[in-house]
Amino acid sequence: AYTAEPFVPDRGGLPALRRAAADCRGCPLHRDATQTVFGQGTADARVMLVGEQPGDQEDRQGKPFVGPAGRLLDRALEEAGIDPSEAYVTNAVKHFKFTQAEPRKRRIHKAPSLREMTACGPWLAAELAVVEPELIVILGATAGKALLGSSFRVGEVRGALLEREIHGRQEKLVATVHPSSVLRAQDDKDRKAAYEGLVSDLKVAARALS
Ligand code: URA
Ligand code: SF4
Repeated sequence: AYTAEPFVPDRGGLPALRRAAADCRGCPLHRDATQTVFGQGTADARVMLVGEQPGDQEDRQGKPFVGPAGRLLDRALEEAGIDPSEAYVTNAVKHFKFTQAEPRKRRIHKAPSLREMTACGPWLAAELAVVEPELIVILGATAGKALLGSSFRVGEVRGALLEREIHGRQEKLVATVHPSSVLRAQDDKDRKAAYEGLVSDLKVAARALS
């Protein structure tokens, strides 16, 4: 089975994890992507935000949530009362998965498979073990499935403060939609409603941190 496990160092903190992740060959996604996009933030961060996988911009820049979804997320976090620069931000899958009709054509995001999510899981587990956040914010279905299992449904649990055991540790979590889903809304009215929903869920996270 695909797994990042043999690539994950068991000491050295975030710097060692980041360095090792750059050479991960735990699943085939490293082949077509530009680089590993590891989490960003400090080990003393109180909140960890978990997205799906890097997008086109993140793949080019090597940092999570620096594209359109990231800008929307930062705005929503600030509105909810969470300082984006104090959060640890990462993804369930560390390489960009995409389809491309032809070379030099636009690269279109493809959802990671369960096998790829499972393969990449050891990196997220290692980040959680080092950062030990007080709260995890799940951004969308992929992050939720990666942390809580394949039966996870955002719609069923969003906006509630949850307590679940993850890798033997009791964690507090708040789930919400993925910021990209706000950008994909059909029209301005839907987009505004989706954005307000995201902010309202993030306010639950902010309250849990205060
Ligand atoms: N979407 C994600 O889930 N993560 C990123 O880093 C960027 C977009
Ligand atoms: Fe390793 Fe994850 Fe990249 Fe697959 S997606 S190669 S498991 S870092």
